[in-house]
Amino acid sequence: MISKAVSRRRFIKISGTTACASIATGLPIVHATPTKAQIGCTTLPYPSIIVTQASQLKDNTPVTFTFPDQFSPCVLIKMGHRIPGGVGPQNDIVAFNSLCTHQGCPLAYDKEARVFKCGCHFTTFDAEKGGQMICGQATENLPQIVLEYIPKDDSIRAVAVQGLIYGRQANLL
Ligand code: FES
Repeated sequence: MISKAVSRRRFIKISGTTACASIATGLPIVHATPTKAQIGCTTLPYPSIIVTQASQLKDNTPVTFTFPDQFSPCVLIKMGHRIPGGVGPQNDIVAFNSLCTHQGCPLAYDKEARVFKCGCHFTTFDAEKGGQMICGQATENLPQIVLEYIPKDDSIRAVAVQGLIYGRQANLL
């Protein structure tokens, strides 16, 4: 019995014809829009964890923690002057995931230059400009940890991640 549904062979034939027609006519082939999971967003709630107290921090001294789970190393830094995206009493505290966006090597923070450096293929990321890639092999900026400052208890909380953590299809496993 012949099914009303398009057979596999016919589907492949139609798909191939469409792609060839698209190439021949110069019309663009439409690609699927990336899902929220593919760009690192999620509808699931992130945990909210206390990383430290703002008064405990020293300028330009990194504090390590993990977020949103134990497999995602992160670094928090009080830069000592107001910067875009900074939180806390001086709007100078930022945090990033510390896996290189190229191939996932651990990054080291350079206090002098105030950048994150990768020892594998030498990509550098700017800690004062939202983890922007300065040079190297990576093509993505560092994922930035969204922080909240709670004046009542002076706590700095990690509450979300902007950007996709290396090696994941979604930030929440
Ligand atoms: Fe960092 Fe390649 S893994 S530059």
